[in-house]
Amino acid sequence: MDYHLTNRCAVVTGAGGAILGAVSRLMAAEGARVAVWDLLPEQAERTVEEIRALGGRALAVTCDVTSREAICDALQTTLEAFGRVDVLVNGAGGSRAVTTTSEDLAFFDIDPQDLRMVMDLNYLSTVMCCQEIGRVMARQKSGVIVNVTSVAGLAPLTRALAYSNSKAAANSFTRWLAVHMAQTYSREIRVNAVAPGFVLTDQNRFLLIDRNSGQTTERGRQIMQAVPAGRYGTPDEVAQVIVYLASDCAGFVNGAVVPVDGGFAAYSGV
Ligand SMILES: NC(=O)c1ccc[n+]([C@@H]2O[C@H](COP(=O)([O-])OP(=O)(O)OC[C@H]3O[C@@H](n4cnc5c(N)ncnc54)[C@H](O)[C@@H]3O)[C@@H](O)[C@H]2O)c1
Repeated sequence: MDYHLTNRCAVVTGAGGAILGAVSRLMAAEGARVAVWDLLPEQAERTVEEIRALGGRALAVTCDVTSREAICDALQTTLEAFGRVDVLVNGAGGSRAVTTTSEDLAFFDIDPQDLRMVMDLNYLSTVMCCQEIGRVMARQKSGVIVNVTSVAGLAPLTRALAYSNSKAAANSFTRWLAVHMAQTYSREIRVNAVAPGFVLTDQNRFLLIDRNSGQTTERGRQIMQAVPAGRYGTPDEVAQVIVYLASDCAGFVNGAVVPVDGGFAAYSGV
C-alpha cells in the first residue's frame, strides 16, 4: 500500500519504545520526516539511528510529555527543524505496579497520588500534546492525530485499575476531539485512536513469561484463552494500522477507536 507520507512531518511520542519505534521506522520508510520524542534521550537516539541507517530522516527530541513546558520546548525544537507538523502520534504511556491490585496491594490501599501519575501519563499527556500540536494544525487548517490507547480502555482489565481507566479516558477524548477539531477549526483535521491488544514487549514480558523457567505465566495463559488469534501481536502489526490512520488512505476515517488485538475485544469469553 502507498501511504503517501512523502515529506509529511510527524511527531511520534514514546518513539524510543517498541510499538512507536516501529511506527517511526515505517513512517520514515514511507518518506516522512519524523520527530522522535521520548523521555529517555538514549532511547530516542536509538530509533533515530535505526531510521538514518535505512536512509530515512529523523530528529531525536527529549521530552517528558507529562509536562506542558517540556511539550512546548519539544514542539519549538521540532518546528525549528521541520517548520510544520502534519501528523501527531501520541504513543508515550504505560502501566505501573503501584496502581495494579495484587496479593500485596488491595484496591483500598492504592495511593491517589499514584493514580494521578498514571492518569497524567496516559490521559493528560495526550490531551496536552493535542492542545499544543493541535494549535499548530488549527493554524495550518490540516493535520492528523492518532492516539495509542489500549483494549484495556474498551473493557477494563482485571487488576489494572489506573491503566484501564486512563486509557478509557483517552478513547473518549479521541472521539470528542475528532468532532471538536472538525467543527471548530478544519474538516481537514482528523483524530483517531488505535487500541492495541497484547503485544509482547519489555514492558509486559515479566508478567507474561516466567523469568526463570521461560514458561507462560498464569496471567499469560488467561490472556491466550481470551485472544481468538491465539498469539501475541507484534509491534509492526500495530504500527501498520497507526500509519494507515495517519495517511490519506484513511481520509474518511475520523473519531474511530480501532482495536488491533487478534479479536480480544470481540470475545465475550463464551
Ligand atoms: N505492549 C502492549 O502490549 C500494549 C498494549 C496496549 C497498549 N499499549 C500502549 O502502546 C504504547 C507503547 O507501548 P510499548 O509497549 O511500545 O511501550 P514501551 O515501554 O516499549 O515504550 C514506551 C516509550 O515511552 C517512553 N515514555 C515513557 N514515559 C514517557 C514520558 N513521560 N514522556 C515521553 N516518553 C515517555 C519510554 O521511554 C519508552 O521509550 C503505550 O501507550 C502503551 O500503553 C501497549
